[in-house]
Amino acid sequence: MIRTPIAGLRAQVGETVTIAGWAQALRLQRAMQFIIVRDHTGTVQVTHRRDGTALEAALEGLTAESAVRITGRVQANPVVSLGGLEVIPETVTVENLAHAPLPIDAHTGLEGRLDWRFLDLRRRTEARLVFEVQTTVERAMREFAFAEGCTEMHTPKLMGTASESGAEVFEVGYFGRPAYLAQSPQFYKQMAIAGGVDRVFEVGPVFRAEPSFTSRHATEFTGVDVELAWIESVEDVMTFEERMLAHVLSAVAAAHGPAIEEHFETQVTVPRVPFPRLTLAEALSLSAPAATGADSGRDDLDPAGERAVSARVLAETGHEFAFVTEYPASVRPFYHLRPDGKPHLTASFDLLWKGLEITTGAQREHRYDVLLAQAAAKGLAPDPMRWYLDCFRYGCPPHGGFGLGLGRLLMALLGLDSIRDAAFLFRGPNRLTP
Ligand code: 4AD
Ligand code: MG
Repeated sequence: MIRTPIAGLRAQVGETVTIAGWAQALRLQRAMQFIIVRDHTGTVQVTHRRDGTALEAALEGLTAESAVRITGRVQANPVVSLGGLEVIPETVTVENLAHAPLPIDAHTGLEGRLDWRFLDLRRRTEARLVFEVQTTVERAMREFAFAEGCTEMHTPKLMGTASESGAEVFEVGYFGRPAYLAQSPQFYKQMAIAGGVDRVFEVGPVFRAEPSFTSRHATEFTGVDVELAWIESVEDVMTFEERMLAHVLSAVAAAHGPAIEEHFETQVTVPRVPFPRLTLAEALSLSAPAATGADSGRDDLDPAGERAVSARVLAETGHEFAFVTEYPASVRPFYHLRPDGKPHLTASFDLLWKGLEITTGAQREHRYDVLLAQAAAKGLAPDPMRWYLDCFRYGCPPHGGFGLGLGRLLMALLGLDSIRDAAFLFRGPNRLTP
């Protein structure tokens, strides 16, 4: 039996087809039975005049969200509000009768939706649209990365040492000794550079044991990582990323622009390159009125500061994106390169999009002695990461790269209030199920 997608029924008026989907709504009247059937492409009304047959009984026994296959004739009927089409059923197969009542409804809050995520996704077109957009985003990123000469690598997520710093790492048992879940592919993508891979691209899981309950933190998320060999400066990394994002957003606008506007009331703007660049010092002075409170040490932007910077940049330049550069060494990892003559700064950047950090990137320190000194200055012992440091002892080219959070990007792109809606199954300090 060939399944006809509901969105394709208009072309089949007068023909007998089989549709497969869920009984979204049932209106069982005295003379008539109306079932709204939904599949992944749309909804259609199934109209049956009661006739005392087994077909009538089968329709009568349906519950909301039951999985059904219905064979019937497609008929144009201008009276039907759902697109002027209906299906007159000949047979119905109930593949899986849904228990009643359903555990969620249109008023269920975020956590309740996440408890019943499969029903949440099935019932809300926009919830599934997130992953259609994500698919386009990843495909466009890969296309761009391949065109730019990247090789896609898969680095281990089980590690013998923490990948970024000691904090925020999940420890797991590993045959009687501890192992750690990778907080970033950072060290391994640099190892690939040392291994002669000219440009590295990776999409993979990232684990952070952050007890953060914000709308933009997850304990497991998908990271997009890039690392480029033989760069002249961190500017090469930013240029790569802004061109990649322009390509991604033009692909998203072409494939999903109208659907995103319909379901999220958000316009996809294909950005012009280059994106504006400002130093952290400039960003802090721009955001001064808003950046009080949390980070008032003033060597980093707090979330309110990030929003203020984006708002100012948008007002002054029309750009939704802004690169913030020259973060102090005190707030950056030991492996970030310090610019010549500016030992207190780093050749690094964050990319802000609509007030949200979506990326951190940097040129890396590739000179062994300097790297060792920078690690020591941060109080890091060389022995546990000997294998990493050894990458810089046998001819490592200058290089740099970035890490981008896919959930953060989807949040900004679609205007989502929470990263919880940007993941299929969110993981946070209080959520390990489903
Ligand atoms: O800024 P982060 O921590 O930078 C790194 O991991 C570096 N190794 C990257 C590099 O190449 N220098 O993480 C990169 C990005 C952030 O900008 C953010 O988009 C996302 O990953 N991210 C998170 N997303 C969701 N939940 C969290 N807890 C996140 N932490 C970081
Ligand atoms: Mg960061």
